[in-house]
Amino acid sequence: MSRAVVVVAAGSGTRLGLGTAKAFVPVAGERMLVRVLRTVLALTEPTFVAVVAPADRLDECRELVASVAGGAVAYTAVVPGGADRHASVEAGLAALPDSVVTVLVHDAARCLTPASQFERVFAAVLASGAGVVPGLPVTDTVKRVDGDTVVETVDRSALVGVQTPQGFPLADLRRAYAGAARAETDDAGVFQAAGGTVRTVPGDADAFKITTRWDLGRAEAVVAERAAAASTPPSLDLRVGLGVDVHAFDAASPCRVGLLDFPGEAGLSGHSDGDAVAHAVCDALLSAGGLGDIGGRFGTSDPRYAGATGDVFVRGAVELLRAEGLVPVRVTVQVVGNRPRIGARREEMQDALAAVVGAPVAVSGTTTDGLGFTGRGEGLTAIATAVVRAV
Ligand code: CTP
Ligand code: MG
Repeated sequence: MSRAVVVVAAGSGTRLGLGTAKAFVPVAGERMLVRVLRTVLALTEPTFVAVVAPADRLDECRELVASVAGGAVAYTAVVPGGADRHASVEAGLAALPDSVVTVLVHDAARCLTPASQFERVFAAVLASGAGVVPGLPVTDTVKRVDGDTVVETVDRSALVGVQTPQGFPLADLRRAYAGAARAETDDAGVFQAAGGTVRTVPGDADAFKITTRWDLGRAEAVVAERAAAASTPPSLDLRVGLGVDVHAFDAASPCRVGLLDFPGEAGLSGHSDGDAVAHAVCDALLSAGGLGDIGGRFGTSDPRYAGATGDVFVRGAVELLRAEGLVPVRVTVQVVGNRPRIGARREEMQDALAAVVGAPVAVSGTTTDGLGFTGRGEGLTAIATAVVRAV
């Protein structure tokens, strides 16, 4: 396992003033440390997790880690912290297996930090080989003071507020901690004091540190907002499209309808393979996105599409929709004509079309009671509707 997160959770939470170690204080019903563990133990790549806990709560902390980690508990360690954060980080670094190359150090008190921030920091350490801190621009005007007298305004464009996780090549960070004078207030400071380079990546407003009661209230509000957002139904921005296509029969061509071959049946004439069903589906998708039509998009005389199979156009329409932030939700297509008979192969056709559309496709068939060109067996009509949704 080449990457690890050290979660420092051994602080006493004096400023929060609840008389209990801060990492064990619940935020909207779930303890801060549990929230952090849920995030780091769900990272997509295997990650060793070392938790630095208050010395008098080690057993409780081990139980808590085991309950969140489940089968992954073998890739965790729980160790007692020290008198200050510096000592706690050192204890965490000492608990990591030798295979670890990149380490992130994270405050349990920043318990709402999203997984994306951990991934961003890991990626930046790997790409740069440097230390990496997430930072946010400073929004207040900042002044240097001498007692209660303002000395000057500091150029805030040159300032960032830094958060955790802070990431480093493990060997370099261990070396930096081993020789540190303990004057630094964060890991990047220790790293830099030892001659290391530190870069910043964008931080996240939700990665704020819970220090006071006010911060606790803010965290509860963020959790409530997330819950409300999660219960909002997916986008209701739905669009409907319509597509119709007609091809004449051509006994000399192979018959392909709805992406299926119909051996022994008369084929359909056309610049491509004449698959009226696929073309109607393509047009319905394009129409739903307000993206024009198959002729305009794929050029009926374009030599690239001579003999092209129907899936090429359907796939092309799906890609054009995706570029507009739209995805198919459902497609319906009706085949109008005497032959080929659809009934026996309906499911096969639905599956073939759905595999290209990326959403369910319903196929039905009908005749026109002997009337019109379809009734006389001169050609085949397909009528499709598509519903697409903004993502
Ligand atoms: N921390 C630690 N060991 C210490 C001190 C702090 O592991 N001896 C951890 C805290 O648990 C926290 C992070 O370092 O996750 C940042 O520290 P801070 O916000 O100052 O937390 P506390 O020290 O617990 O709070 P306070 O300073 O108010 O007592
Ligand atoms: Mg502290």
